[in-house]
Amino acid sequence: MNILVTGGAGFIGSNFIRYWLTEHPQDVITNLDALTYAGNLASLKDVEVNPNYEFIQGSILDAELVGQLVETADRIVHFAAESHVDRSILGPEAFVETNIRGTFTLLEAARKKKIPFHHISTDEVFGSLELGSSAKFTEHTPYQPNSPYSASKAGSDHLVRAYHETYGLPVTITNCSNNFGPYQHPEKFIPRMITDLIDGGTVKIYGDGLYVRDWLYVQDHCRAIDAVLTNGKNGETYLVGGMSQDISNKDIALKVLEIMGMSEDKITYVADRPGHDRRYAVDWTKIHDELGWQPEHSFEEWLKETVEWYKNNQSWWRPLKEKAESIYK
Ligand code: NAD
Ligand code: TYD
Repeated sequence: MNILVTGGAGFIGSNFIRYWLTEHPQDVITNLDALTYAGNLASLKDVEVNPNYEFIQGSILDAELVGQLVETADRIVHFAAESHVDRSILGPEAFVETNIRGTFTLLEAARKKKIPFHHISTDEVFGSLELGSSAKFTEHTPYQPNSPYSASKAGSDHLVRAYHETYGLPVTITNCSNNFGPYQHPEKFIPRMITDLIDGGTVKIYGDGLYVRDWLYVQDHCRAIDAVLTNGKNGETYLVGGMSQDISNKDIALKVLEIMGMSEDKITYVADRPGHDRRYAVDWTKIHDELGWQPEHSFEEWLKETVEWYKNNQSWWRPLKEKAESIYK
């Protein structure tokens, strides 16, 4: 099978390509990535030598290029996006362009060639849950996005669904929770904190720090996408979540400080993010019951592994760090 992966030079895409070529060595992957600030070929150094892997630098907004690449593809797995909420607050336009128009461009090409389309989306499309409640997002939760990022991802989800309903395009969608693990850009919460601490800085906690995300180890996410690509039902959405169980940002910071042998005085409380969603939690019963998937990497253990990875791979993140911090000035 020939898979066109978009956004494969990003965090999850690069982990997915490495995972897929290992688990499905007979398949061929073409990685279409624009190499924005978030795309990094250094994340795929070990994969480059694989004869079943090809990289094409280009944009999902380029309909002609997308049309050419879809000619030889058997399916599309779509990761490419503007993905950082803070950047979407500073400059929403790129989010509308890439996440909505870019997805539309890919869907048009998929429709002409009639090939299956898998869309990677986020639990953030569902908005915010109440702190302290036991409610979780399910496949039936109404959409209520609160940031330009989540609104643009919601728009893309709706387009994917509509192409299935209207044109009969074979599609699947996964809405996953916050990923963590190797090759995540140092502008995101966990890598920002680890890399700041390595450099003698402090952890920046937004607001009161009592914000809750559902943390999914990136390898578990790759396995979930595999389960959906292999056995998922045409037209269906599957939610994917992790094992972190309602841990606050502040408690994650305390865990990282403990892992790194540092104390709480390394925490700085900074201005809150506008429109900051209080709590996300994902009910992954459907993908478990229908496709036999469940997360396997415990949050505590793989947080430690992630700290180790950033300590041992400073040449990977150092060139990105300055750019990451420039948005916070
Ligand atoms: P990322 O920002 O690390 O990577 C995005 C990649 O897309 C980069 O390589 C970038 O160069 C590429 N890209 C951007 N615009 C492009 C364009 N116009 N054409 C081609 N390539 C382009 O993002 P990520 O964290 O790996 O997220 C991947 C997907 O998963 C996104 O769709 C995101 O919305 C979704 N998601 C991420 C998380 C998370 O925790 N990281 C959680 C839920 C959903
Ligand atoms: P982030 O990694 O940006 O992911 P998302 O906004 O998509 O959930 O942020 C995760 C959480 O951490 C979110 O509640 C915002 C918070 N946060 C901080 O407290 N400090 C930081 O420096 C960053 C980047 C995020």
